[in-house]
Amino acid sequence: MPRLTHLASRFAGSLWPGGPPAADDAWATRHLGRGEVLLWRRMKGFDRRHAVGVARRVSAALGSQATAPVMAAALLHDVGKVDSNFGVFGRVVATIRAAAMGAEKAAAGSGRMARYTHHPSIGARLLQDAGADPLTVAWAAQHHLPPTQWTLPEHVAAALKDADDD
Ligand SMILES: [Fe+2]
Ligand SMILES: [Fe+2]
Repeated sequence: MPRLTHLASRFAGSLWPGGPPAADDAWATRHLGRGEVLLWRRMKGFDRRHAVGVARRVSAALGSQATAPVMAAALLHDVGKVDSNFGVFGRVVATIRAAAMGAEKAAAGSGRMARYTHHPSIGARLLQDAGADPLTVAWAAQHHLPPTQWTLPEHVAAALKDADDD
């Protein structure tokens, strides 16, 4: 469960809805396949900024082991959030509500709140349909699960998780 200080910092970071600088966006899409780029373009600007930060840290941590599927995993792990399609304010409310309600309640039902909570499985399905590598699909599904449930090579999953500050 995210801590309140973390939520506050995410809140502050989310207030600016723009995407990453053009050079960062171009750098990101160089690592993505055609179908993945289409998904990337559907992501909110603040999610793309977050993803670029994650991917830069993964690239620095893994060097030559940051293969295209690993970079796509870093860039698109939160792509399932496109389904609930919350804007800045809705995202802030949803994040705080999920923290206050507890994960189980937040995940119940089929409304936007539940779809936001289920963004890992929704993202995995979107990526699979887009022809993403199985590693990329797996990380979208697993990025909020405990390490015992990760199926990626351990050091790769650890680098992806360490780089993800949400
Ligand atoms: Fe996530
Ligand atoms: Fe994330």
